[in-house]
Amino acid sequence: MIPDTTEVYKLISEIRNSLDYLSETGCQGFDCSPDCLERVMNWGGGGDVIPVPEPLENITQDLGDCVRCRLSKNRHRIVFGTGNPDARLMFVGEGPGSEEDQQGEPFVGAAGHLLTKIIAAMKHTRDEVYICNIIKCRPPGNRNPEPDEIETCLPFLRRQVQAVQPEFIVALGAVAAQTLLDTNLPISRLRGRIHDYQGIKVMPTYHPAFLLRNAERKRDVWEDMKKLMKEMGIE
Ligand code: URA
Repeated sequence: MIPDTTEVYKLISEIRNSLDYLSETGCQGFDCSPDCLERVMNWGGGGDVIPVPEPLENITQDLGDCVRCRLSKNRHRIVFGTGNPDARLMFVGEGPGSEEDQQGEPFVGAAGHLLTKIIAAMKHTRDEVYICNIIKCRPPGNRNPEPDEIETCLPFLRRQVQAVQPEFIVALGAVAAQTLLDTNLPISRLRGRIHDYQGIKVMPTYHPAFLLRNAERKRDVWEDMKKLMKEMGIE
């Protein structure tokens, strides 16, 4: 009998959550290393069976009406992500702003309009790429997310990346770049060259909201995108 894949993913996801929890509580009785958790995520693809990526719906289901951190108190809507679930190119921002919090979609405010133009300049549409954020709920007053808020939300982004399996990621701004690349280096040092995140090519660049206040930096972002387009084989 062929098992129902949704059920299998649910089971894997429950096992993974339990291992994550054990790992967080310092359990040493199991191998809770990132390597092992990664392997668990890839279960279902053993032998000559090609692993099937987890559906994004599974992740939204697990996220539920999340109250895992304090940001749930003030948010109106969880902003999960939008776009092509099989995208070759993914954009990762910091976290929802007020407009996104109202609409439940990432990058729909002023910074989002600029991002849409950047995507168009890269000869893509919003529907062709995948857009999401490091954290899924708006921090009050648009403050930067706290490290513990990022840590709580990060497993969901990791799963999103594994589900979409993009070849390329644009990390928008310091929070996205530093979180994905696990570094404290400033965005000015990270931008302009390709980095690696789990085998995916990552181009960090300035955040569109920063560009709205510092228009003279748009040239740098365009240089970064041109480099990335060359890497992607876009003429
Ligand atoms: N800024 C972000 O980083 N993400 C959004 O979704 C909107 C603004």
